[in-house]
Amino acid sequence: MREITATVLENKPIARGVYSLTFACGTEIKARPGQFAMIGVRGFPLRRPLAICKSEGERFTVCYRVKGEGTGCLAADYKIGEKLSVLLPLGNGFYAGENEKKIALVGGGAGIFPLISAIREYSPDREVYAYMGFRSREDLCMEYELRRAKSLTIATDDGSEGFCGTAVEAFAKDLKEVAPDVVFACGPTPMLRALKAKAGGKIPIYVSLEERMGCGIGACLVCVCNKTDGKHARVCKDGPVFEIGDVSL
Ligand SMILES: Cc1cc2nc3c(=O)[nH]c(=O)nc-3n(C[C@H](O)[C@H](O)[C@H](O)COP(=O)(O)OP(=O)(O)OC[C@H]3O[C@@H](n4cnc5c(N)ncnc54)[C@H](O)[C@@H]3O)c2cc1C
Ligand code: FES
Repeated sequence: MREITATVLENKPIARGVYSLTFACGTEIKARPGQFAMIGVRGFPLRRPLAICKSEGERFTVCYRVKGEGTGCLAADYKIGEKLSVLLPLGNGFYAGENEKKIALVGGGAGIFPLISAIREYSPDREVYAYMGFRSREDLCMEYELRRAKSLTIATDDGSEGFCGTAVEAFAKDLKEVAPDVVFACGPTPMLRALKAKAGGKIPIYVSLEERMGCGIGACLVCVCNKTDGKHARVCKDGPVFEIGDVSL
């Protein structure tokens, strides 16, 4: 993990309320799929956790949905050339074992962003089947990145694009036929619960959790989640990726 002063190269809208922010770090930093960055926003004492979508040499891209004041300020105030204080890379990330040749990705909402780096890491060497859920066509973004997967199913809640329903429903429909060796997922907790109900216990499933965070480096305990064995884990340091059966959803 490094603390760096990054320079904004691009910060542009890519869908309704969603921005893509690319910054230069001035030094090469390697990141795994599913790892995240803590982004300092002027005027806010706490940094904001955002998944690393792309890392290319000294350049990193994060994508964010404007949710509250911090992401609102990021969208409005950070133009090309502005400086940002960033901690990265953080967390454990997704890891497919050598024998896991078929990987299914299930993402919903902002949960698609950490999965983009998994597509970049594992395609085309492995067979990647991506199931990505959006509320509506207006929310669809990063399609050119998602299309790097061997197979892409877009699901929308209102049926305005692709499969009408959730990403989990689209995945469950294909589960037998695709028979993935491992599943990586990220999205709202109800989505992860639905995934656990449909496929938990049948195949290894790793989920990235989006807990509120304070420090992002394991010191403040703001992000603690409950484990199924009665113990606790820090999402920032022990996660954000966990085996689905290990955490209470
Ligand atoms: C590991 C991880 C990766 C994430 N990756 C992405 C991503 O790639 N793209 C994206 O759009 N969002 C992502 N999120 C969620 C994102 O961090 C929040 O939407 C963002 O922090 C909201 O900040 P805000 O100031 O706009 O909202 P506010 O509601 O004003 O935030 C108040 C405080 O709560 C925290 N907070 C609020 N919502 C969340 C949340 N869902 N998760 C964590 N902290 C939250 C904020 O960081 C801040 O400290 C990720 C969260 C985690 C934990
Ligand atoms: S955010 Fe501080 S311990 Fe996880």
